[in-house]
Amino acid sequence: MTQDDLKRAVAQAAVAHVPEDCIVGVGTGSTANFFIDELGKIKHRIQGAVASSEASAKRLQGHGIEVVSLNEAGTLPVYVDGADEITRHLHMIKGGGGALTREKIVAAASKKFVCVCDASKLVDVLGKFPLPVEVIPMARSYVARQIVVLGGQPRLREGFTTDNGNLILDVYGLTILNPVELETTLNNIAGVVTNGLFARRPADVLLLGTASGVQTLTV
Ligand code: 5RP
Repeated sequence: MTQDDLKRAVAQAAVAHVPEDCIVGVGTGSTANFFIDELGKIKHRIQGAVASSEASAKRLQGHGIEVVSLNEAGTLPVYVDGADEITRHLHMIKGGGGALTREKIVAAASKKFVCVCDASKLVDVLGKFPLPVEVIPMARSYVARQIVVLGGQPRLREGFTTDNGNLILDVYGLTILNPVELETTLNNIAGVVTNGLFARRPADVLLLGTASGVQTLTV
């Protein structure tokens, strides 16, 4: 089984978490793309979707699914998205695709977060994957210095601008033993829009693609 087979399997399993006639929150990335393709097959059963990125909005529209703004949609019953790393506590690092801020907003506005991952994403401790931090451009250098004080090694994601017109610092060298605390600390640095730790609002369900099938984990 390839990694794509595992991603497709969890995307198919996630459809069972989408209630009839709802507006569904949709994440960003290759696993979320498989989920969007599955949503395309049941588009007559949903009202529409709120997208966490311009790329996902485009793919949803390509399937003929109506993209609704979060302000119009209000509270969503479910948000489905991937992760770069996830623990058994369902704390995550996200933002490898740079969509972390909109992902965090849509996740916050959703009753249930269903994370869809292949087994390679499950870790004991977060931090091997560089932690993305979205920053206002004028604060780039200041935020980077503050992150060094916290023990991280920030590196500017070259040639990349977020959908919100900001920059990403990818932070290397972290062993994140207290993700809730670090998420708060980083978000309190002036100029940080948000960071890719999803610990204050973790996932509610993890659908993990393994060679022996899709495992469901909850806390
Ligand atoms: C994008 C994300 C993605 O969920 C994360 O990068 C995982 O992507 P993929 O499913 O391609 O491995 O946070 O900002």
